[in-house]
Amino acid sequence: MPKPSAPSLEQQLLQAFPAPDELPAGVRPDPSGYERLYLLDGEVRTWEGEVSEVGSPIYLRTGGPLERTLIGHAPVMDDATVMAAVDSAARAWDGGHGVWPTMSVASRIEAVEKFLTLMIPARDEVVRLLMWEIGKNLEDSRKEFDRTVEYIRSTVEALKELDRTSSRFALDAGIIAQIRRSPLGVCLSMGPFNYPLNETYTTLLPALIMGNTAVVKPAKFGTLVHQPLLRAFAESFPPGVVNFIYGRGGKIIEPIMRSGKIDVLAFIGSSKVGDLLKQQHPHPHRMRAVLGLDAKNPALIMPDADLENAVKESVRGALGFNGQRCTALKIFFVHESIADDFLARLGQAVNALPFGMPWQPETRITPLPEPGKAAKMKAYVDEAAARGANVINPGGGTACESLFLPAVVYPVAPDTSLYREEQFGPVIPVCSYRDEREFFEFVANSNFGQQASLFGNDPVKIGTLIDKLANQVCRINLNSQCQRGPDSLPFTGRKDSAEMTLSISDALRAFSIRALVAAGSNPANRDLIQNIVNGRKSSFLNTDFIL
Ligand code: G3H
Repeated sequence: MPKPSAPSLEQQLLQAFPAPDELPAGVRPDPSGYERLYLLDGEVRTWEGEVSEVGSPIYLRTGGPLERTLIGHAPVMDDATVMAAVDSAARAWDGGHGVWPTMSVASRIEAVEKFLTLMIPARDEVVRLLMWEIGKNLEDSRKEFDRTVEYIRSTVEALKELDRTSSRFALDAGIIAQIRRSPLGVCLSMGPFNYPLNETYTTLLPALIMGNTAVVKPAKFGTLVHQPLLRAFAESFPPGVVNFIYGRGGKIIEPIMRSGKIDVLAFIGSSKVGDLLKQQHPHPHRMRAVLGLDAKNPALIMPDADLENAVKESVRGALGFNGQRCTALKIFFVHESIADDFLARLGQAVNALPFGMPWQPETRITPLPEPGKAAKMKAYVDEAAARGANVINPGGGTACESLFLPAVVYPVAPDTSLYREEQFGPVIPVCSYRDEREFFEFVANSNFGQQASLFGNDPVKIGTLIDKLANQVCRINLNSQCQRGPDSLPFTGRKDSAEMTLSISDALRAFSIRALVAAGSNPANRDLIQNIVNGRKSSFLNTDFIL
């Protein structure tokens, strides 16, 4: 009998998708308790109008061609409902006189703490939705939920700290003043598909806790992850303070922006869309934009780099969540003297990453949520190959529907899309360099300016590189991948990469503006201020100290 031949990579990828009866019990989300829900004016309502099917990148093997799984439905709202949500948020703001924006800081903190207690029990379902909607592996899905909870807890502590500092009076040049931070108004909150929970709530919750009201438009993929949390929002915040809208972004957002009713835009996505949204506002200068945008973070691998560490960090940096992180390392410059060694090790490490379904332990390469993404990745590889590059790791670039095996592509020429564009996926472009000027040329000419990673050990060289890079990017990582965390550190970018700075404490500042009460320091004014404070006549002007 001839020995059966080993399955090809394509067959292995196909077999990685489950047959319906292979799905482990309890691994699928159950939308029956939250499907078609939306939140408007403090009420969780059921949408009776048009809906869209929410598909999963996890296909099923049913005998014939792979079948895309249907995991739920999302409302496709009409303009009238969407504008009703905006009006609800505007009423809750009420020109800054609403219950929420005038509420004491301590009471707003209580509301957010209540939301946290109600959010935590939804963890398992949100984690299942993250796995099925965007293909994030179990460990990272749990991490996304837990990191978000931790971020909200830390936001409460940071606000207490900010409020304590603001409780004091300043006396300068005969003027007595109390300086606090006031909310800005109605916030439109739009997160990205790669961190649909975390990067929505790390702007939404700071915006809310500072006294703003909000309309949230979930990302195109990662839409359902908010559904199990809508009741928690409704029970924790006064009516109209948080509203969730659903529908086709290209259609429903324009009327919102053109209405001029948005005071803050919190958007994490592409700079192209960010620019478009800003231009649609009739008075762009009235709207604060807090934007997390595109990036193409480069890594420089110098001749004296510890290659074992460089490869480990490069793989984490380039392929965490299949390269779908704004902070991912998206291009590598390796010194020509170590290029072969680095590439051999990198290719081996990349090929050792287990691929499969998100719930399987150890899985690192998982299905990509955007339809057509594997073909887009292949097009990048093909174009680079036509300009002289090779796929270094055997099998790299093999695909089956939404599964795409990462490709290490070398040498990538400056005239390729892979050199210039943010690929946002599992393709690793590598260039070799002789002179660091080639790396700086890339950095200076790049449209992006978020972060960079330097791998090497010479203090003189690295010191010089830091000085040059600090005026081009906003975080320089030494012998480490690029990343946003820990969330206490500032997260921002230059050029097309960001507007404003986020971190636990910076976000509170981003969603507020300094406002002060000032008076000539004479006996009458001092008496007046004492009376207001002692008689608790103002929630802004007070000396309360939140413990
Ligand atoms: O997509 C961009 C995220 O902010 C990246 O965050 O570096 O923690 O994965 P991370």
